[in-house]
Amino acid sequence: MKKVIFVIGVSGCGKSTIGKLLAQELNIPFFDGDDFHPESNIAKMSNGHPLNDADRQGWLETLNDLAKKQRTKNSCVIVCSALKQKYRNTLSKGVESETKWVHLSGSFHQIFERINSRPDHFMPSELLQSQFDTLEIPTDAIRIDISLSPENIIKKIKHEIMTTSEFGLFGLGVMGKSLCRNLANNGFKIAMFNRHVAGVEEDVAKNFKAQYPELAQAEAFDNISAFVNALQQPRKIMLMVNAGKTIDYVIEDLLPHLSKNDILIDGGNSNYTKTKERGDYLKTKGIHFIGTGVSGGEEGALKGPSIMPSGDAEAYLMVKPFLEKIAAKDQNNLPCCTYVGPEGSGHFIKMVHNGVEYVEMQLLAETATILETLGQNPDEIANTLASWKDTANSYLLEITTAIFRKKEGDDWLVKKILDKAGNKGTGNWTTIASAELGVPSTLIASALFSRYISFYKDERIELNSNYETINASELNITTQEILEAYQFARIINHYQGFKLIAEASNTFKWDLNLSEIARIWTNGCIIRSTLMEDLVEVFKNTTNLLTNPKLIDCIKQYQPAIKKVVSQCILKDLTTPALGESIQFFNGITTKYASANIIQAQRDYFGAHTYQRLEDTSGKNHHTIWN
Ligand code: 6PG
Repeated sequence: MKKVIFVIGVSGCGKSTIGKLLAQELNIPFFDGDDFHPESNIAKMSNGHPLNDADRQGWLETLNDLAKKQRTKNSCVIVCSALKQKYRNTLSKGVESETKWVHLSGSFHQIFERINSRPDHFMPSELLQSQFDTLEIPTDAIRIDISLSPENIIKKIKHEIMTTSEFGLFGLGVMGKSLCRNLANNGFKIAMFNRHVAGVEEDVAKNFKAQYPELAQAEAFDNISAFVNALQQPRKIMLMVNAGKTIDYVIEDLLPHLSKNDILIDGGNSNYTKTKERGDYLKTKGIHFIGTGVSGGEEGALKGPSIMPSGDAEAYLMVKPFLEKIAAKDQNNLPCCTYVGPEGSGHFIKMVHNGVEYVEMQLLAETATILETLGQNPDEIANTLASWKDTANSYLLEITTAIFRKKEGDDWLVKKILDKAGNKGTGNWTTIASAELGVPSTLIASALFSRYISFYKDERIELNSNYETINASELNITTQEILEAYQFARIINHYQGFKLIAEASNTFKWDLNLSEIARIWTNGCIIRSTLMEDLVEVFKNTTNLLTNPKLIDCIKQYQPAIKKVVSQCILKDLTTPALGESIQFFNGITTKYASANIIQAQRDYFGAHTYQRLEDTSGKNHHTIWN
């Protein structure tokens, strides 16, 4: 991969000498930043006036243009003091993932002596001191001690840049492997690790590397220490291992080999509360921690997933170039990856993503079952779903259409699959989190519990024989009404999902940006859809999508259909819990007077829990002796 190597440091650190030698050694062009100052800066400096940030801006942009231009042709070395982070941000803008920083570092005394021992050179100590004062030491640079000989410095830089890997991937399961190939396809030099378990997991990394040509430059390990040592510092290691206790074990295994400021990224479906705990723990060890949701399954991970990182904001800047590069791109070609917020907020929104995913899946399952009940065979169901693409397109609609077309022998595969739905726990967590935060995510609970009900296969069969069921084929509904009911329920699903995120954001003070979250969910992830694309705009103006005029119109348009579809299904003994819950919830959230006055009276009757009165706006608690 082509690289722009910036050699930086205070005046007198030897940037030009080292930069030139390095360029020679690597046989790539060399540029001295000082040669690119505009006339005005040169005049100012020769009059003995220091440059201010405004003077520097244009010059830094010129160097950034140079870097971008060079990068298209070849690697190059550019030397420039680049003392502040904001200067470095300007220098590397647009080429972040190709930029390497080499910081020539020495003490004030060392550099002062060095400058003033050069013939015809003199630098007042105040001037040098002001450079040290300005210097914001880069945490993402290869740090070189200038007391080494130039030969050794070049050797060290070359070793760091050429032979060590930029990014480590720990855990080569399905997702880990796809992410490795994605990183390698994007030109990153990676180190890959998979544990050795005799007879079970042997040479996993090595065999994987041999399988794919894009991994030719990647390094494969089953030894933790060798893996960690192969990485440039500060190390960036993404953990793709099973969520849960395994993450803690892996962290403990890695810790003795890590150095201060290294960065661990947990890319699994971890529980958001654990992510906060792990971040706090690792902070005490001087290690940065980023918990990130990654969505898109095996294919998404390979071609571009949606990535939801959170936690250590400073460390995120260092992994941003990698994550943004491998992420899916939205309609405007922006990466479907954004810094979500502090603590475990990235894993929180991934968890909600999965909750919304459960509901979208459940709604499609219910809808297809209604179509089946109306007499459509799987091919016909696929045709109906395909015809909805224009109005209700989504990744899940597309795959469900494909699922209904798939045949095995003469019959459709879907008909042969046991009707018991599994789960890995994120829907469960979303439901728990909703309950804990006091947010009514009823559709997510309903979709989760539908999976649980499905699991009672034997009991379902037994109870079925005890009760008569009506012949549901006489459902009095059209496919257009089914589509509208489906669309209604999807709007409510997204309302509930984003409400849960908004409430968590308030409770935990995360300051989450709903529009940006919708944006990174428009591509790469499982719940990408045209509705999600609309929500990017909707959430620019409100946090409550049911107040958006266009969505109000949609809801009004679809309302008759959802009522009819759900009531028809109830009359004909067809179970549609998520569709049903969508209209029940809607009726609840739009009801001016709820039946909760009666609940309050009951609570006060048996437990003296008190109640408030409508006419008493002071909010005072009242109690009645009821009998
Ligand atoms: C994704 C998926 C992914 C995984 C789910 C499956 O966004 O890529 O959500 O994370 O497929 O965890 O969850 P269940 O096994 O609970 O259905």
